[in-house]
Amino acid sequence: MNHITNRLFLEEISWDDLPLVHVLHSIPELDEYNTLGIPKDLEETKKVIQPAIDDQQKNPRSQFCWKIELKSSGQVIGLAGMFPSNDRFRLGEIYYKIHPDFWGNGYATEVAKALVRFGFDELKLHKVEAGVATENIRSVRVLEKIGMTREGLRRKILPIRGAWKDNYHYAILEDDPRDY
Ligand SMILES: CC(C)(COP(=O)(O)OP(=O)(O)OC[C@H]1O[C@@H](n2cnc3c(N)ncnc32)[C@H](O)[C@@H]1OP(=O)(O)O)[C@@H](O)C(=O)NCCC(=O)NCCS
Repeated sequence: MNHITNRLFLEEISWDDLPLVHVLHSIPELDEYNTLGIPKDLEETKKVIQPAIDDQQKNPRSQFCWKIELKSSGQVIGLAGMFPSNDRFRLGEIYYKIHPDFWGNGYATEVAKALVRFGFDELKLHKVEAGVATENIRSVRVLEKIGMTREGLRRKILPIRGAWKDNYHYAILEDDPRDY
């Protein structure tokens, strides 16, 4: 399922996007607070995206991975995703990453709002969640801008380049105030 926002297209990835996803996963700035690590080769990236592509044939869906494209130029500037729980808890977890050349333009915020809207309006979720390394101030800012509440701190659960990092748990409920 694809989405359109003011400035962006969110289109589900296909195998044609493998090289592009690989490039994005290989950028150190995008991996700084990520537990995935830089892929050692294209094959590793293929294994990472395989479940998202396979899931496109399923109903109900349990994961989505979108490429983020600028409407103005068609340039792909990042990736985003959503994992609905598909059970009576009606939870969904979101993530996003934007190429560093495009940081600071509000794109991640625009994407995250679209994902929250999709979660509540189309997937009928009760709660949309996100986890973020406590040191990831840019992403913390995005989650706060979209009206998520910091619900907790999980100590030392993220294995990132040989160290255990703390993680904040953020979430927004279907009936929390939202200006979008
Ligand atoms: C986190 C990320 C997606 C943000 O993308 P973005 O398009 O630049 O985000 P936005 O422009 O919507 O918002 C960024 C906010 O961080 C703020 N910010 C940027 N640098 C900052 C800093 N050093 N200290 C405090 N705030 C900072 C910006 O000012 C902006 O807030 P504002 O609108 O109140 O001014 C991007 O940095 C990224 O891809 N990081 C790597 C991947 C990642 O960590 N993903 C999130 C996993 S949970």
